[in-house]
Amino acid sequence: MDKPKFYITTPIYYPSGNMHIGHTYTTVAADTMTRFKKMTGYDAYFLTGTDEHGQKIELKAKEAGVTPKQFVDKIIAETKDLWKLMNIEYDDFIRTTDERHEKVVQKIFKKFYEQGDIYKSEYEGMYCTPCESFWTPSQLKDGCCPDCGRPCEKTREESYFFRMSKYQDWLIDYIETHPDFIQPQSRANEMLNNFLRPGLQDLCVSRTSFKWGVPVDFDPDHVVYVWIDALSNYISALGYASENPELFNKYWPADVHLVGKEIVRFHTIYWPIMLHALGLPLPKQVFGHGWLLFGGDKMSKSKGNIEYPAPIVSRYGVDTLRYYLMREMPFGADGNYTNEAMLTRMNSDLVNDLGNLVSRTVAMIEKYFGGVVPAPNAEEEPDKALRERFEALPEIVEKQMNALQFSVALSEIWKLIGDCNRYIDITQPWILCKSEETMPRLQTVMYYLAECIRAIAVYITPTMPSTPAKIYEQLGLTDESLMTWDSVKTFGGLKAGTVVKKGAALFPRVDVKKELEILNPPAKEEEKKPEPKKEEKKAKAEEKKEEPKSDDGYVTIDEFFKTKLITARVIACEKVEKSDKLLKSTLDIGNGETRTVLSGIAQWYSPDEMPGKTVVLVKNLPPRKMRGIMSEGMLLCASDNEGNLKLLTVDGGEFAPGSEIG
Ligand code: MSP
Repeated sequence: MDKPKFYITTPIYYPSGNMHIGHTYTTVAADTMTRFKKMTGYDAYFLTGTDEHGQKIELKAKEAGVTPKQFVDKIIAETKDLWKLMNIEYDDFIRTTDERHEKVVQKIFKKFYEQGDIYKSEYEGMYCTPCESFWTPSQLKDGCCPDCGRPCEKTREESYFFRMSKYQDWLIDYIETHPDFIQPQSRANEMLNNFLRPGLQDLCVSRTSFKWGVPVDFDPDHVVYVWIDALSNYISALGYASENPELFNKYWPADVHLVGKEIVRFHTIYWPIMLHALGLPLPKQVFGHGWLLFGGDKMSKSKGNIEYPAPIVSRYGVDTLRYYLMREMPFGADGNYTNEAMLTRMNSDLVNDLGNLVSRTVAMIEKYFGGVVPAPNAEEEPDKALRERFEALPEIVEKQMNALQFSVALSEIWKLIGDCNRYIDITQPWILCKSEETMPRLQTVMYYLAECIRAIAVYITPTMPSTPAKIYEQLGLTDESLMTWDSVKTFGGLKAGTVVKKGAALFPRVDVKKELEILNPPAKEEEKKPEPKKEEKKAKAEEKKEEPKSDDGYVTIDEFFKTKLITARVIACEKVEKSDKLLKSTLDIGNGETRTVLSGIAQWYSPDEMPGKTVVLVKNLPPRKMRGIMSEGMLLCASDNEGNLKLLTVDGGEFAPGSEIG
């Protein structure tokens, strides 16, 4: 009989910078789920990829002095390396620059146009470049993008539009009658109440102001704009509307699209409407998981508060990070990421609970039975309780995993680990070994422990794929039929007589404080400078005496260096409404981060001449609200001979945005 199929996807990520722990979170979840499904008898197919078009990439490539394709190629190569490092086994990696994808997008766009779903008009609205999103004025929050809080630019251009409103009532009905479609349920209510019931706006689906996109083949001034391009990946990768639609016929509709909560809207409104207009069935579920927060804020490239996986993996191993990501917060909810919590969990759950259980058990079997797993004897009360936990587990874990509740599934598995450790305390093998009479009892205890460890290794495989092999090796297990999901449904699979072998500790115990100093070294200015030599000290002391104090009207050199000056490139600029003096500039300050700054220079500069200038920004002024807009820093200016204000610029291309000045 054919295996049931299971098709799971991650979002396709923007390669505007390297993938961080946030992207890793979704990808590890999808990989864990795929492995679980494969282990439980499914023909599972896992798709991930990258969303490579758009103005932001075009701009980034320009800044880097390379073509957009060269820019993305480098990041995609690094992304694939990262997924390898994270033990991600995807079945396909789709790039929106793949010819197979572009062709499908063009076909879809044309079909929509021909059947009257798409029409040509003119777009005027607010555009958030970092998020690649258009907003109507009523959707803005304090004049800024409701998703990321940064300023939007006013845009007007000829565009194609998708008649979303036509499908609104159908979609409301669909969501109401398919309660599993949007998960968690609260997100379904959010979609219905915030977007669908108030009425859908038609969606702008093409642009003429940039070129880096899939061209509309029947109107080549236009490129297909973001969401039709991006969302189609889920079917183009399977060969939809191509000469080889076998995978599409086999796997579509998707069983679950895993997405971060900020893009649930696109996946549960635009995507179902597109599919319905194509006459295709909808995915069975869109699961909007929560955000990994970093210091209370969403970890994101553009905010610069990023943690990358590689340093963590190289110090503590891939499974430590995978375990932490899947265990720490319920899938669906937000949670703070901290290295401290990750290390603390590693020491407690992995080193103390799991690692110790394995090493103690193997050591005891070596000590008491020369390394040979003994056959069990009559079952007594504590053995029975342990076996019952063992036997109840498959159903519980499967239920939680199928509901994508990784953290709950892991905590259930850890209950068995906890029970095993307590079982050792209760049965006291070190006493049982002392008399011939209690040796049969000790045999049972050792067998029960070894058998439970086998099951634990099987259960953790989807989340921690590289640890089980190490456990099996220590248990002396080579029979693969004892490593399957089905094999742990009945107690007693492990053969007595198996020869165990003590190995290295599964996880390293760490000094959390010391590790944190390595992972998050103190900021540069606090770094200890090398002790100056005696003469230097003396000279410094003399200098200090000479140094004027700040209350003399001077600043001390230390005070001066507190001011952070950096170079920043103006990406966009506009006049501030109802102000003669103020210009609002959007600045690229390096590392994908942007800033909004208001400056009183409207008398001397027009907004049009600002983009492209590399200016000097005082980075660490406290943000200040002016005319309802938050200004984050100040641009340095000087007066020329006629008393006109001139921006201090460092044009000429030698300085990348974000270069420190000092
Ligand atoms: N390209 C679009 C998606 C198109 S899908 C048809 C996009 N790309 S993205 O690079 O911004 O990736 C967003 C996704 O990355 C989130 O939806 C989530 O899956 C993951 N995450 C990125 N940062 C994250 C956190 N800080 N926390 C959790 N997930 C995060 O949006």
